[in-house]
Amino acid sequence: MTETIAVIGGTGDLGFGLALRWAKAGKHIIIGSRREEKAKKAAEKIREILGKEAKVDGKVNHEAAAVADIVVLSVPFFAQIGILKSIKKTLRPGTILIDVIVPLATAIDGPPTKTLGVWSGSAAKLTEQLVPKGVKVIAAFKNVPADAMQNLEEEVDCDVIVCGDDEEAKKKVMELAEIIPGIRAIDGGSLDNAHIVEELTAFLININMIYGVKNAGIRITGIK
Ligand SMILES: NC(=O)c1ccc[n+]([C@@H]2O[C@H](COP(=O)([O-])OP(=O)(O)OC[C@H]3O[C@@H](n4cnc5c(N)ncnc54)[C@H](OP(=O)(O)O)[C@@H]3O)[C@@H](O)[C@H]2O)c1
Repeated sequence: MTETIAVIGGTGDLGFGLALRWAKAGKHIIIGSRREEKAKKAAEKIREILGKEAKVDGKVNHEAAAVADIVVLSVPFFAQIGILKSIKKTLRPGTILIDVIVPLATAIDGPPTKTLGVWSGSAAKLTEQLVPKGVKVIAAFKNVPADAMQNLEEEVDCDVIVCGDDEEAKKKVMELAEIIPGIRAIDGGSLDNAHIVEELTAFLININMIYGVKNAGIRITGIK
């Protein structure tokens, strides 16, 4: 049976890119939004791009999360706690929750080149604290530029570092990353390491600004 992936915040830049890439790979995607109409519109846009056969639906966030095997949390840091509260009752033990959030200082009108200190250690660890026991939180896609994800003309020239404490869930997310052309998944160890990956994103935004580009990413060398 094909698994269902809900992308909470799938109407936004990165979430839409993930939904688009996975729908293109034949996955069943549910776009989640605070507004059903907005979710359905984003799903329709994906069908316009990929064709009517694309398996994409749109639902309000809690309904999307309720029917999914894998839930992606793709909302701004300042919205993280509220959105998690709105979906947490629908998350079941065993669900894989992919956290892509970067706690950029923009949440408090600071620069995008800095991250905020999160009391739990990282945005991903905060998610882990807020979801029911048994939900497997995996940090991934935190360094991938949304622009590159949405541009189907080109492969995504980027490694995706995946951090988490459940090895099976981490492997599953690494497989999901690698169905996107160009992406190589790197096992980044435990969820405790997620803060390093989150800080790297602010650094990459700085590099984007220095070079006047949008899509700076990372590649880890020395691994065959
Ligand atoms: N953009 C990138 O290149 C990139 C790269 C790596 C990681 N990230 C991380 O991925 C996450 C999503 O990034 P993004 O650029 O896709 O974000 P975004 O476009 O600004 O927002 C994503 C979605 O979040 C939802 N949302 C929920 N509560 C919200 C609120 N209070 N205010 C505004 N939006 C709210 C909105 O969906 P509805 O209105 O439909 O509910 C929105 O479409 C962020 O945490 C970011 O740090 C982004």
